[in-house]
Parts: sequence; C-alpha cells; structure tokens
Amino acid sequence: MHVKVENNRHLLKRSLEAVAVFLFEGEPPAGESVAAIDKAAKGMIHQIWEEHDFEGKLHQTTILYPCDDTAIRRLILIGLGKREDFSADKMRSAGAKAGQTARSLKAKSLAVALAADEIGLSWEVATEASVEGIILGLYQYTEFKTLDRESFNEVELLQVFIKDNENMSLVKAAAARTEKICRAVHFVRNLVSAPANAMTPTIMVREALAIAKGHKKIKTTVLEAADMKRLGMNALLGVAKGSAEPPKFIIMEYRGTGKEQSPIVLVGKALTFDSGGISLKPAEKMDEMKTDMAGGAAVIGAVCAAADLQLPVNVVALIPATENLPGGRALKPGDILKSLSGKTIEVLNTDAEGRLILADALAYAGRFKPVAIIDIATLTGACVVALGDHVMGMMGTDDNLKKRIKKASEQTGELLWELPLWDSYSDLIKSDIADYKNAAGRPGGAITAAAFLSKFVGSYPWAHLDIAGPAWLTKDQAYNPKGASGAGVRLFVQLLRNWSDAV
Ligand code: BES
Ligand code: MN
Ligand code: ZN
Repeated sequence: MHVKVENNRHLLKRSLEAVAVFLFEGEPPAGESVAAIDKAAKGMIHQIWEEHDFEGKLHQTTILYPCDDTAIRRLILIGLGKREDFSADKMRSAGAKAGQTARSLKAKSLAVALAADEIGLSWEVATEASVEGIILGLYQYTEFKTLDRESFNEVELLQVFIKDNENMSLVKAAAARTEKICRAVHFVRNLVSAPANAMTPTIMVREALAIAKGHKKIKTTVLEAADMKRLGMNALLGVAKGSAEPPKFIIMEYRGTGKEQSPIVLVGKALTFDSGGISLKPAEKMDEMKTDMAGGAAVIGAVCAAADLQLPVNVVALIPATENLPGGRALKPGDILKSLSGKTIEVLNTDAEGRLILADALAYAGRFKPVAIIDIATLTGACVVALGDHVMGMMGTDDNLKKRIKKASEQTGELLWELPLWDSYSDLIKSDIADYKNAAGRPGGAITAAAFLSKFVGSYPWAHLDIAGPAWLTKDQAYNPKGASGAGVRLFVQLLRNWSDAV
C-alpha cells in the first residue's frame, strides 16, 4: 500500500473509487471537509443523518452511492462512537474498518479526509493513528494460497486529504513514518504466520539478513552451534539437541547515535517450533507453536524500523533461535545444564524451554553494558490465563524502564499489565540439586518464569514482556486481523522514539 497526502482542494477534482468519512455519534455531520464531500454527494450525508439511519456508533458502517456524475463513486461512512470516549486507538480501529470496507468493495484506492482539529487529536497523532489502522487492518497472509488469488483484493493506494497546506509537511512526514512502522509489523506478521517448515532458525537468519541489508547502520552477526559451545551457551544448546535443525543466535546492532552511548538490548525468544520436547504438548493446537518465535521476530522488526526511522539511539537485538523437539538426543526431564552465566539449571519440564534459551541470551546481553535490557517472549500459558489473550504481561526490576514501557503501551494501544515480581517468587524456582529449576508448577506461572529470567540478567535495568496471548489472535481485532499480530513491534518503536526525545 502506498500513502499519498494531498490538499483538500484536489479531493473533489478526482474520480475517487471510495471515500471514507468518519462521524461522531450523536453529532450532525459538520466540519469543512465533511461539508465539501457532502456537497459533492448532493447532501446524502445530511440526508442519512436526518433520517436517523446512521448514528455514528463506533464501527457502524454504511455505504452510500452518490449519483454517477459526482467525483465520488462510493462513500463509506464510519462511526467513531461518542466524542468523549474517542482516542487515538479508536481512530486506528475506525481506520481499519474503512480500509476493510473498501477492500470488500474491491476498491483499489481509498481516500480519507483527515481533520485532526475536528476530532480533537494532534495532526501527528491523527495521521499516524488513521494510516496505521488502515494499513494494519488490511493485512492478509496469502503466501501459501494458490487458488482464487484474484479474489484477494488489495487496496493499493491510500489518499489522505487535509484542508490546508500549513500542516502538509508534518502530515506527510507522519504518514511516511507510519508506513515504515507498518512495514515492520507486516514483516513480523509474515514471519510468525509462516509454518515451521518454512521458518526454521536457518530461514530466520536469512530473513534477518535480508531485511537488514538495506540499512548500512545495522550490523548482523550470527553465532553457530560451534560458537555457542565455545562460549558455553549450554542452555540454548540443550534445547536445540532434540532437533535436527541447527540453532542460531542472531545479533543485530543498530547504531543511530554515538559509540559512547550504551545500547538498549532487546532480546526475543525464537522457538521456530515448540513441541514441548520430551514433555510433549497435546496434539490439539500444537500447530500454533509455530508462533513461538514471535518475540524474536518482533525484535528484528523493531531494530529495522528504528534504522528506517533513523532514530538517534543505539539498539541491539539478540535472537536465540532453535526448535524444541523430542529427538533421540533431546533434553530429558531431570537433566542439568550449566548456562552461559555459570549458573546451573535443573530441567524439570522440557516444555519450559523459552526461559532456557533466554537465560543464555540475557547473560550474553551483559556484554553490551546496556542501559536497559527488555526481553519479549511467548513464554507462558499462565500469562494468558492471568490477563486474557489480548494483553501482554510485564514484569521487571526497574521502575523507570517499566514506566517508559507503560507510556509506549498507552500511546500505541498495545495493551499490557504489570504483574508483581516480589522476592518471594524466587523461592519457588530453587532446585534441590542445581541452582535453579526451570518449572515451578502452576501457581503464578507467568511470574515464576520471569523470576527465573531475572537470575540471568545481572544488574542491568530489565523488563520482561510475555506475549503468549497477543502474539497470535484466534479472532479478528479491529486493526489486528486474526492470526499473527506483530505484537511488540509498535510498542518498541514508540519506546525508542520516546527514548530519543528524552535525551
Ligand atoms: N511457548 C510456550 C508458551 C505458550 C503457550 C505460548 C500458549 C503461546 C501459547 C512455552 O514454551 C511453554 O510451553 N510454557 C509452559 C511452561 C510450563 C511447562 C512451566 C506453559 O505455559 O505451560
Ligand atoms: Mn514450551
Ligand atoms: Zn515455548
């Protein structure tokens, strides 16, 4: 999809396939741009309002067909809900609704008249939210569909019309930024959607190299099994032992500012398939474990977006990637591993493998002397039980870092909620015969997993995001169609944008 920003003056001089108009609930159609469109549509918008046939309820959608001598072929009315409940996130969902409606009408282009002042948002936020909602809502994964491909209509052009030239450059810049961020989200969604036979650790490396290629400021390094052995990454190697696919440890370094500035290190769990290993998972829904690399994909996407946006920050992404399979050499319950940090781990459940590979990656993160470490992982079913499947769990040791993450969550609409990480949870992960055990039973499962991770972080400010729920949606959400959501990418990009503002 390509986004073009133009002045309203041009709006009605064109033949437009579909024009979206956003209206608040209980308010008569008003504002300059709506009036101009209504005039071109011979007063249809006012008419439908007078008849009470369109009330502007959130996501309410009506399609009007003005007579054929107007420039507008289809008019899509979308409700924004009540003004007092309105937010940037409602704009995203309304945008998604408009885009999806245009697609269902087989329109190749969609025009929207954007009037930030009339909807009470800044021009920057209004542009970002509407463009983001439209692009993200139109995502579809068609890679493996060979039949009826012509029925997958793509909306190829989004025309954003604004009323004056005063905000033109600001709106253009915001739209261009949003396109870049959405490209990263779609990249991540594609990686997560891919089945495990098309997304092995080796293929993930290829994808990371391919997307990083355009950015000379990203340096990508890949550690092979032999390197891991030399370094002592035995927790990661332990998980990989049950699989014939070689594990990979991907390191992507983006330098957007001076060398002397310590980087933010993002660590993403990448199990390209998690069968559970010898502690095998039930067959039902095991296929969904192809998404167990969503954290790893998210940090690749975030670093590339940071580079694309030329953010003045230094960021490193670390992606331990492997499969978890019950092969002949697989880890057995009871096995003890000596991790990169030197600490020993008793593997009581081979299905608690994410924390094993993260233990080594978190220990490795210390080499960069980071200002902060944030890991992101589809780590526990327990987190989904605690918070629902649309919310990520956050735990961590640094209040300031957690505050920054919460702020980015509010700005992006990527919902998260903090769970406590009190010292008492650490008692639950003590092993009788090693330093720690990797599984601690059902109570507080999301937190005991985080408590385990905390032992490998060292003294750096750290936060952990559990995306077991939101990484993969079983039903459509406004601008996140069901399937892979790209959870974490927009959150990280916003965090990094704020970070660079703050210094
Ligand atoms: N990848 C899973 C967690 C998961 C579950 C992600 C559902 C997405 C949806 C993780 O490796 C796992 O299996 N965790 C176990 C931990 C337990 C054995 C301590 C779990 O949550 O059951
Ligand atoms: Mn598992
Ligand atoms: Zn897993």
